[in-house]
Amino acid sequence: MAVGAATQPTTFGGDTIAFYGAHQAGVDTPPQAHAQFVALDLRPDAGRDELISILRLWTADAARLTAGRPALADTEPELAAAPARLTVTVGFGPSLFDRIGLAEARPPSVRDLPSFTIDRLEPQWSGGDLLLHLGCDDPMTLAHASRVLLKNVRSMTTIRWTQRGFRTARGTADDGATMRNLMGSVDGTVNPAPGAEIDDLVWDAGAGQPWFAGGTTLVLRRIRMELDTWDELDTHGRNLSIGRRQDTGAPLTGQDEHDQPDFGATKNGITVIPENAHIARAHHRTAREQFLRRAYNYDDPPAPGAVSDAGLIFTAYQRDIDEQFLPVQQRLAEADALNEWTTPVGSAVFAIPPGVREGGYIGEQLVG
Ligand code: HEM
Repeated sequence: MAVGAATQPTTFGGDTIAFYGAHQAGVDTPPQAHAQFVALDLRPDAGRDELISILRLWTADAARLTAGRPALADTEPELAAAPARLTVTVGFGPSLFDRIGLAEARPPSVRDLPSFTIDRLEPQWSGGDLLLHLGCDDPMTLAHASRVLLKNVRSMTTIRWTQRGFRTARGTADDGATMRNLMGSVDGTVNPAPGAEIDDLVWDAGAGQPWFAGGTTLVLRRIRMELDTWDELDTHGRNLSIGRRQDTGAPLTGQDEHDQPDFGATKNGITVIPENAHIARAHHRTAREQFLRRAYNYDDPPAPGAVSDAGLIFTAYQRDIDEQFLPVQQRLAEADALNEWTTPVGSAVFAIPPGVREGGYIGEQLVG
């Protein structure tokens, strides 16, 4: 068999990401190739005690699985041997706080988003009491971890929705290269840098809700791409609708992906980056309007007669949804050129509790 030039002998199956720490892993962790987001509801007869059981079970098994050890009572321990940067991240939906009698502990911006005119939301992709988010470079390991974690809690929960997403396979491009989405665009260029920017914009400091210090909030939007009509747009039209070049990801006023866009630049009296280009509308207008984007592509089996059902599992992490995310989403809903080729079909919001200390469990700061 002929093998192309740049074959790499390296394997990544043994790579791990620490489970314990001040913050849950899976938020500012470099994104793995695969992700699964599962929203669950507590069963009607379940309350705070059952929630604590769920969180203890998930913590014990997540700590083992992320280290490449089988879960407790694992029936397929062989499938746990290659953690491949597995992360397990848990979130609390707005409804959970009411369900367990702790409404006053809900971080105020963790509530359903207002509806936007562009929304075509489907209940099958929206809401949820609990979020279980897994990230992994290997889909086998991910499938096993997911089954173990979900089957353990099935007497106390029902699954509301499952969304699976992917990025470029690990080893296909340089680690750290910005991903492309299924419209062809380089997606994720402008993001807060690790360190001071992430600390300032993403991690809660506990000023409002002391239990939430070290946590963050997540907005998850399932956004369908209308690829059949996007296909009809030529390269120039595509570049204008984003404000960046499809080939390099560079802003229309620059040469390289990471050049600063010049939103005021004009040519023959016309703004080079149109005012309704996606990045012109999305770019922050105050320092506070920034957040961490960590999107995944989805490409699910299409309905009969359709060619594809594809889009973005768009995730944004920030301290405060009202201050940081909402003004940007509002501007996009009003006049983003991209709206013609994208349709939000799902929406959910979660508080991501702080990290776990050894011997503790996820969410104990709230329910312990
Ligand atoms: C930038 C695609 C939805 C916020 C970008 C870029 C692309 C892109 C290609 C330029 C490269 C980059 O900096 O990442 C998309 C697609 C979407 C989508 C295909 C839907 C399917 C959203 C949503 C929001 C958002 C819902 C927030 C409400 C941003 C922000 C930037 C950005 C803040 C950086 C703007 C800047 O300062 O230059 N997006 N996006 N995007 N997008 Fe989106």
